[in-house]
Amino acid sequence: MAHISRRNFLRTSLYTSAVAGAVSPAFTFANDGPAANDKIECAVVGIRGRGGSHISGFINDPRTVITYLVDVDEAVGQSRCDQVEKKQGFRPKFVKDMREAFADKNLDVVGSATPNYWHGLSAIWAMQAGKDVYVEKPATHNLFEGKTMVAAAKKYGRMCQVGTQCRSNPALRDAMKFMHEGGIGKVDFARGLCYKRRKAIGALGDYTQNIPGSVDFNLWSGPAIFTEPKLTRQQFHYDWHWQRLYGNGDSGNQGPHQLDIARWGLGLMRHPNKVVTYGGRLGYQAERKDPTYVDAGDTANTEVSVFDYGDKTIVFETRGLETPDIDGAKIGVVFYGTEGKLVQVNYGLCIAYDKQGNVIKEFKGSSDQFHFDNFINAVVSRDASSLNAPILDGHLSAAMAHLGNASYYLGEKNKVSVDTLCKEMEKIESRDDNKDTVLRTVEHLKANGVDLEATPLSLGPQLKFDPEKEEFCDCCAYAKDQLNREWREGFVCPSVDEV
Ligand SMILES: NC(=O)c1ccc[n+]([C@@H]2O[C@H](COP(=O)([O-])OP(=O)(O)OC[C@H]3O[C@@H](n4cnc5c(N)ncnc54)[C@H](O)[C@@H]3O)[C@@H](O)[C@H]2O)c1
Repeated sequence: MAHISRRNFLRTSLYTSAVAGAVSPAFTFANDGPAANDKIECAVVGIRGRGGSHISGFINDPRTVITYLVDVDEAVGQSRCDQVEKKQGFRPKFVKDMREAFADKNLDVVGSATPNYWHGLSAIWAMQAGKDVYVEKPATHNLFEGKTMVAAAKKYGRMCQVGTQCRSNPALRDAMKFMHEGGIGKVDFARGLCYKRRKAIGALGDYTQNIPGSVDFNLWSGPAIFTEPKLTRQQFHYDWHWQRLYGNGDSGNQGPHQLDIARWGLGLMRHPNKVVTYGGRLGYQAERKDPTYVDAGDTANTEVSVFDYGDKTIVFETRGLETPDIDGAKIGVVFYGTEGKLVQVNYGLCIAYDKQGNVIKEFKGSSDQFHFDNFINAVVSRDASSLNAPILDGHLSAAMAHLGNASYYLGEKNKVSVDTLCKEMEKIESRDDNKDTVLRTVEHLKANGVDLEATPLSLGPQLKFDPEKEEFCDCCAYAKDQLNREWREGFVCPSVDEV
């Protein structure tokens, strides 16, 4: 590991808290791995939910040690430090501001499992400080950040892996190879599914008292508008996913896994030419048995986007209410080929069928660890081309969610009848039967008690996008604000030229 300077771990203050006798497995091998003081030093930033998997990913790898845990919530941070101390035999340093960790020259790697709107800045700041980065999906909260992240990885020669871990799972890798070698014939259409039940998050209100006292709300807000601290949702953590100031709805949460697989399967290393979306945040009135109920979320829980790539189409369906599967998949992708179908059923299972519906082949195997291993291998080899989910892929896949949401947000007030929706969608060029997809969506909503006359679906404009320039075409220039955000002083994302 020539690129990582040797350092005398045992002399650093970080290790003074090591429990006597509790020598961690990370320090026991003398002959079968790198010396302890050659270990790759890691920080995990944002450690409540998914950050726990980053901690495991690094702890399970004998080449790495966790020297920093970073969270703006002190309570979350100290409790994770306790866990890591027990597992690796010494306590990582806890800091609330990621910049303190990034300033440490001994730090090599940053895992970022912060909320979406922090992904871009955390990764860019880390790369500018010379660190390699494993950043969670969606790689970005908006498309602007993605362009800078791609440029930063190149400029600073950093490894930047995105947390779309299916990219490293044998089930997916083998299935994609099979399909790319013609296993189901010619394939030019994929349907991605994010059918994941999401309940209402509580009525819109003032829940400022629910901001935990252990949280630094200024740092938590970061690049998003500072709401002086005012909280409009009941639950502080996690439910930010359903408020667009911070999250991207489920098409930009669970969605990027399946959007990424759809794009990968169709071999599309570029943005779409056009996108149109219809949807709504529907069904919670019936769920609460209150026709006036409005929850604190403002992202769609029902969303269908049609991505036009010229000679290929991806349709992406998000459903947050109870729904049956399609071909055995709820959170998956169905690829339609001239000779059959390939269904990604889950993260560890894909099934190929012939035209008669007989199973041709099954593909199995998954583990989160594979993706972390792939990242650390690249950190060691310095070969960015060996990353299974490099930042360019993460950027392209997250951008699909952003473009889909852009059409939805712009058309939010354009409420349409089922009839009009069918007619408008029939005009959209696609390899799908657009009308059939509308009618399936309508049937699903009705089955969940949605009154489409009282709460109709919205239809967005079909937006034309220039995949090379990464901006909307002139006719859709009015949509450009959807590609960026209002940045807050002190937390401004640099542009490609500024990075
Ligand atoms: N790859 C996957 O399968 C997968 C699974 C779950 C979540 N995720 C992604 O991981 C991210 C985190 O999701 P979660 O469910 O853990 O969310 P969460 O809200 O439960 O946890 C986020 C944590 O980040 C902390 N945080 C916020 N701003 C911070 C900052 N500036 N510096 C340090 N810490 C900060 C919060 O205090 C909290 O502890 C999301 O972007 C999500 O999309 C990925």
